[in-house]
Amino acid sequence: MKGIILAGGRATRFYPATISISKHLLPVYDKPMIYYSLSILLFAGIRDILIITNPEFLPLYQKLLQDGSHLGIQITYKEQKEPRGIAEAFIIGEEFIEDSKVCLILGDNLFFGQSLGQIVQKAAQFEEGAIVFAYPVRNPKDFGVVEFDQNGKAISIEEKPEKPRSHWAVPGLYFYDNQVVKIAKNLKPSARGELEITDVNREYLKMGKLKVMPLGRGVAWFDTGTPDNLLEASNFVATIQRRQGFYIACLEEIAYRMGYITKEQLLELGKKQEKTDYGRYILELARE
Ligand code: DAU
Repeated sequence: MKGIILAGGRATRFYPATISISKHLLPVYDKPMIYYSLSILLFAGIRDILIITNPEFLPLYQKLLQDGSHLGIQITYKEQKEPRGIAEAFIIGEEFIEDSKVCLILGDNLFFGQSLGQIVQKAAQFEEGAIVFAYPVRNPKDFGVVEFDQNGKAISIEEKPEKPRSHWAVPGLYFYDNQVVKIAKNLKPSARGELEITDVNREYLKMGKLKVMPLGRGVAWFDTGTPDNLLEASNFVATIQRRQGFYIACLEEIAYRMGYITKEQLLELGKKQEKTDYGRYILELARE
């Protein structure tokens, strides 16, 4: 199983167009936004990861996450020149995906919950077709919206519908078999000129192969795409971390707990960041 993080586009909702800043490097409370999506792939047991971002920011992501070997994983990078749609990730990532299954996560999605590791590990074991998740929201119009039966079989899926058929939003985390590359290549751009991820999902739906896993009340999901959402997510992370003393999306900790790196390596990573609370947290873990 391979993993793709889509982290293209600019921070246009946060800065005027005269300055170009990458949204997924903005901090959600105390760490870059992209840490949160990467942490989900690590939890799922996915260690071969492609980050797709736009050409001007790509070197920044490379500086931040390098080749991933310090986390016991492999990270490669590819450009998306223009935001031509989420489904373009599978065309850009074709060579990387080879004949594997693939998990795609959007770089601005944040998930948190006790059973989340188990949920994504279970999803990653699927044999064929596609898996999407469903999360109850009060504003389904703003998202992909899915309807499904009690066996988790999708009945309908629509992108930002005027009249949503359910209150189940589809978060930016998707699992596909290898057919996804062919499906993405045959897509036509939508009315807004993008290759829509919902159109990919609709193809799987037509084949009767779109499975939906509802995320229960125990899971929190944020799309951090607007200033309000970003603030909400930051406050959430701060509250949990202060209260529990455990970090959300500390990549070094997850890599250690998943057995990707040793305690000695964890200690070295902590030392490099010991001037920050984040680094001191890693050091404490390594010295336990
Ligand atoms: O967050 C979940 C939602 O994400 C889903 O419910 C929708 O079905 C899905 O279409 C998507 O909706 P958004 O309106 O949030 O998509 P947005 O265009 O904001 O892009 C999501 C992220 O993907 C964002 O971090 C930027 C990145 N992106 C987007 C596009 C279209 C790219 O890197 N390249 C792109 O071409």
